[in-house]
Amino acid sequence: MVAPLRVGIAGLGTVGAEVVRLIEQQGKVLTARCGRGVKVVSVTARSKTKKRGVDLRGIGWAKDPMAIATDPEVDCFVELMGGVGDPALSAIEAALSSGKSVVTANKALIAKHGLKLAALAEKHGGALNYEAAVAGAIPVVKTLREGLAGTGIDRVYGILNGTCNYILSRMEQEGLSFEECLKDAQRLGYAEANPSFDVDGHDTAQKLAILASLAFGTKVAQSAVYVEGITSIAAADLRAAAELGYRVKLLGVAVRTATGIEQRVHPTMVPLKSSIAQVMGVTNAVTIDGAGISPITLVGPGAGGAATASAVLADIADVARGVRALPFGRPVGKLTVTAKAPMERHEGGYYIRLMARDLAGTAARIATRLAEQKISLESIVQRHPDGMIDGNGAAKKSAPVPVILITYATSEDAMRRALQAVQSDKVISGRPQVIRIEKN
Ligand code: HSE
Repeated sequence: MVAPLRVGIAGLGTVGAEVVRLIEQQGKVLTARCGRGVKVVSVTARSKTKKRGVDLRGIGWAKDPMAIATDPEVDCFVELMGGVGDPALSAIEAALSSGKSVVTANKALIAKHGLKLAALAEKHGGALNYEAAVAGAIPVVKTLREGLAGTGIDRVYGILNGTCNYILSRMEQEGLSFEECLKDAQRLGYAEANPSFDVDGHDTAQKLAILASLAFGTKVAQSAVYVEGITSIAAADLRAAAELGYRVKLLGVAVRTATGIEQRVHPTMVPLKSSIAQVMGVTNAVTIDGAGISPITLVGPGAGGAATASAVLADIADVARGVRALPFGRPVGKLTVTAKAPMERHEGGYYIRLMARDLAGTAARIATRLAEQKISLESIVQRHPDGMIDGNGAAKKSAPVPVILITYATSEDAMRRALQAVQSDKVISGRPQVIRIEKN
């Protein structure tokens, strides 16, 4: 009979407490699936007395994370504290250096220090598992690292932030404000401690950087990710998108191009009929375009205690079984540095919303500026919103009106030059709203 895997957990927040509860509740299933038991022998957190709704009797309380990481009675160190530096980083380094396996949900730490930690895991023979760091319960790390080990990858993209998808879904479906939806996401435990991290796109960028490394065998490079968040998205954009046959999603996209690997996070118009457009609420989805095979899409809960704990448990199960996959799917020494494809060279369609001066010649002027950059228009719509019509039904000539343009594929550079020229012509007021279109 193989001895149980002895697990030590640092961090007993929503996820940590759920992991303790699930190991207790799923003990028999885990033993059957791993061929040995899994036992939590030690835990630590900031407060020992806080009510967590889990029974910690019979589990040792360590004085700090380092005490667990260096405890010879612990086989697997589970880091669920978060934070890009210490105490998480030093404790993980110590655990790996002593040959222990490490399981973490810490995407910030993996995005920043993953290579260094992977090298330590390789050197000392432990596992470094981080499935929970990307897309909650969706096993996308394992899919890229192991399931598709024999397949070339051309593109990986998806909805990687539950909070943003939840906000955009509720704004669209219930006509609620951005602030109301964010508050609910925080209340439900989806959002990061600092919500700007979610809504400004950085959380997605960290996850995307990890996926890009797994997909393309490159060194994780968060600084190579172009990032835009969802804070500028207005209800008017969501309405216009629906009318034009699109839906707005915050996507992370990593794609191989002629100029290098493009990694970008931004609000994106996706065709209303596409499978990614159907993904609503806190749900995440990742699509992988593999060479020679149809795209693979994985959909599932991307945030919250239960979703994250599910992935943590799968990683612990791998350690118990003795599975030791290389953290980034190949030796750290074989990961390459690949050219970052500049965003100005990005090619795609664009949604553009302008507040235009409602006078003869305005549309012609805008169309001319686009034509000068060889940008072809798929559609152009001008509206007189309520309140812009006077008592006799005529439009008030002085008020600017929203004009919405959809372009065919063009370069980012050409689109920016055209909009710069339109702004210089003074035929619009304010800044244009630009949302990239991703065709599937
Ligand atoms: N704040 C993150 C999200 C949690 O909303 O997806 C999971 O990383």
